[in-house]
Amino acid sequence: MPVLLPYQNPELPVAERVADVLSRMSLEEKVGQMLQVDARGDLAGAVLGRHVGSILHTSPEKVLEAHRLTDQTRLQIPLLVADDCIHGHSFWPGATIFPTQLGMAASWDADLLERVGRAAACEVAATGIHWTFSPVLCIARDLRWGRVDETFGEDPFLIGELATAMMRGYQGDGLDDPTAILATAKHFAGYSETQGGRDASEADISRRKLRSWFLPPFEKIAKAGVGSFMLGYQSIDGVPVTLNEWLLTDVLRGEWGYTGVLVTDWDNVGRMVWEQKVQPDIVHAAAAAVKAGNEMIMTTPTFYEGALEAVRRGMITESDIDRAVRHILAVKFQMGLFENRRRPTTDAAIGTPEHRALNLEVARRSVVLLKNDGALPLAPGTRRIAVVGPLADDAQTQLGDWAGSSGQVEWMKDGQPRAMITTLLDGFRRFSPANCEVSYAQGATILHLEPDPEGTTFADGQPRPPIVVPDQPDPRMIAEAVECAKSADVVVAAVGDRIEVVGEARSTATLELLGGQKALLDALIATGKPVIVVLLASKPLVLPECVDRAAGLVWAANPGMEGGRAIAEIIWGIVNPTGRLPISLPVHVGQQPCYYNQIRGQHGHRYADLTQHPAYAFGFGLSYTQVEYSNARVERPTVGRNGVVRAHVTCTNKGTRPTLETVQAYISDRMTSASWADKELKAYRQVELEPGESREVEMVIPVAECSIVNAQGRRVVEPGEFTVALGSSSQSADLLPVAFTVE
Ligand code: NOJ
Repeated sequence: MPVLLPYQNPELPVAERVADVLSRMSLEEKVGQMLQVDARGDLAGAVLGRHVGSILHTSPEKVLEAHRLTDQTRLQIPLLVADDCIHGHSFWPGATIFPTQLGMAASWDADLLERVGRAAACEVAATGIHWTFSPVLCIARDLRWGRVDETFGEDPFLIGELATAMMRGYQGDGLDDPTAILATAKHFAGYSETQGGRDASEADISRRKLRSWFLPPFEKIAKAGVGSFMLGYQSIDGVPVTLNEWLLTDVLRGEWGYTGVLVTDWDNVGRMVWEQKVQPDIVHAAAAAVKAGNEMIMTTPTFYEGALEAVRRGMITESDIDRAVRHILAVKFQMGLFENRRRPTTDAAIGTPEHRALNLEVARRSVVLLKNDGALPLAPGTRRIAVVGPLADDAQTQLGDWAGSSGQVEWMKDGQPRAMITTLLDGFRRFSPANCEVSYAQGATILHLEPDPEGTTFADGQPRPPIVVPDQPDPRMIAEAVECAKSADVVVAAVGDRIEVVGEARSTATLELLGGQKALLDALIATGKPVIVVLLASKPLVLPECVDRAAGLVWAANPGMEGGRAIAEIIWGIVNPTGRLPISLPVHVGQQPCYYNQIRGQHGHRYADLTQHPAYAFGFGLSYTQVEYSNARVERPTVGRNGVVRAHVTCTNKGTRPTLETVQAYISDRMTSASWADKELKAYRQVELEPGESREVEMVIPVAECSIVNAQGRRVVEPGEFTVALGSSSQSADLLPVAFTVE
């Protein structure tokens, strides 16, 4: 038996093993441990030359190569292998791709999302990947932002619930569970508070606003034990998050006592030199990043030389490096990677029938019915359906960003296997009654790309996305779709967006349906046939006026591999729709931002030329039955500051189908010492109701949650009069308010 060094001995406590291995590492090895590099580059140079601690974007082959290289290193410190597996194992051929975060958020079901996280973790872990950069806890506000699809929507409470659940699924029974993967809470914090929706622009956001809305979901997940935090790209008040000592040290490490790993976003350290221009060179940038508490430095390979030089010049000390490396090593020990690197096993856990069934379940729960003039569900006698639109049979687009061919990796140019994806057209062909004929016409194209005159790459060598040019309506395609519609009993028209207008550096100036889509909808609705519009879009889009005359409207974000089946089943009434909007849909792009929990106090609630009301409000969604709310009451009209508000409401299913109702509770503090949101979601419950059934639903809200952040930046409960409003969506018309007093 070879004698084990202390760090190799799994019997010893993690802290002891960390101290031992650290004492054996050279300064170069320590600095290298802080590097996370793109595995698509020179892997041997990274592992053997720069002693890197982590790699990301690994293809199936590269994972094995990386381990072989690690075997040649002096201390054989295992690599942390990371990737963006954000709604499934995004870039693994044949993996289960679930709806996007925004899509799944419409289920409002934390337990379901925990199961999704668990299934995804099993697929990811089986392929030798230890760390996912998920979930996203950014609050979607300006919808022009290109990454709305990656969020759980606009509400901090819902985001906190869903993100924490998904994290629990990823991390399983603990990091030493071989099917667990390290989760990442990102992008800390305020990244989504863009200027004009432009990605990574300076966030104009005060500490008070951060504490009010942006930090609470992060605090929740930090305290629930998420393994890592990723720091956003943007600056706040002139300081890149990378150097925001208040956020990183005072709040995250200090107030919240967080002990996990901090990872930068892509080249955050380099960006301070070449993009934000707040550091003169990489030596200064590296020193500043270490001092501010950054640990894993994503894709800034020159951090290696920069940090070594900074130590040489006395700008930072070796013990500053030790502090960062300790957390990284601790995670590797906690995960048991020194004993078991978790090399890829077999493909057995990938795309299993169980995961596929779960994907169908979550897709069904993620579809939101927004409008129904009575045409839905389709009458059983419907004989001919025309399925039309550019997104009706576009399999890869249906998966959304961070999946297969969405552009982040080059080994999946054709995307996920077509046979695994059920498009809307597939869904109708497979799940319509045998005697129903399904016809199809594409009807329109959306956009094409032209090279950006500024060049094909950015200053750091990253590819610059080409320019999106909307296509002109094609009269021939429209005529074909109209023909198809005329010979059908009902038309299902799938419209939305494409990957070219989704994602990093792909924010949009407009929210309109691009290309030939508006003209297509106009022509379809002009046929007089009932048209069901299905919005398959990464984010809420503005719908053209003609949709007012559509027979139905369904919103499905990017619904993943089973999306087409789930939507077809809902349109046929095989499944009752129960999804609720996790985000408001605007009437016009000029209403941005139109989230529901706006701050009180402005001259009127409308623009001179438009109201502020969204087309569809946060929390809204129809089903094939009606649930009536009555008898809203609180158990005690007066509660103490340390007490709980117990509110009750009776829900009665007035229709003929069983349903799952999402009962929502919004708190409003009638008078606050500092301006505050008019109402905020503080609790929700999902209850099953049989036809005719009445249930009294209890909502329990700790008074501590009925708080505001005062002008001094402290979260406090201010005694006085409050309202708890109970109902089916955030809009006042759907809520029954009940007053209570906090003493
Ligand atoms: C940049 C993105 O902002 C982040 O969300 C992602 O995890 C990293 N790139 C790694 O791909």
